Amino acid sequence: MTQDDPAVLEIRELRTEFRIRKQWHAAVRGVSLSVARNETVALVGESGNSKSVTALSILKLLPSAGSRHAGGHILLAGRDLSTSLSETQMSQVRGNDIAMIFQEPMTSLNPTMTVGDQIVEAVR
Ligand SMILES: Nc1ncnc2c1ncn2[C@@H]1O[C@H](COP(=O)(O)OP(=O)(O)OP(=O)(O)O)[C@@H](O)[C@H]1O
Ligand SMILES: [Mg+2]
Repeated sequence: MTQDDPAVLEIRELRTEFRIRKQWHAAVRGVSLSVARNETVALVGESGNSKSVTALSILKLLPSAGSRHAGGHILLAGRDLSTSLSETQMSQVRGNDIAMIFQEPMTSLNPTMTVGDQIVEAVR
């Protein structure tokens, strides 16, 4: 990747922990990845290895009671979401600059339409 082609999303050494019976346990341990413009990146792994927790951490959608950002950086178009944004600012970023389709696709997608049509409908 060059200076002219910066990553849209860059995750550096992300660490997320959950509090279970008064102890903090890491669910995401040092995840780093980078997504360039027009690039698709897939996280693949067995069930329970924190793909969803990684995505929820990036969007800062984990409950503040019981979970914590324990390290690393989330850079969206160079802006660090992990440290510098208030919840109000973060809610502006969500939906406008970054979005997530949750694991239950039936709650996000209409099975009677193609995915393409649904994306176009939102843009329209
Ligand atoms: N709110 C939570 N509190 C405590 N532990 C949690 C919480 N949410 C997820 N976990 C744990 O974090 C780990 C990662 O879960 P996650 O749902 O991210 O897995 P996944 O890779 O998305 O699995 P799948 O392929 O089944 O979707 C699991 O051990 C899960 O039990
Ligand atoms: Mg999952």
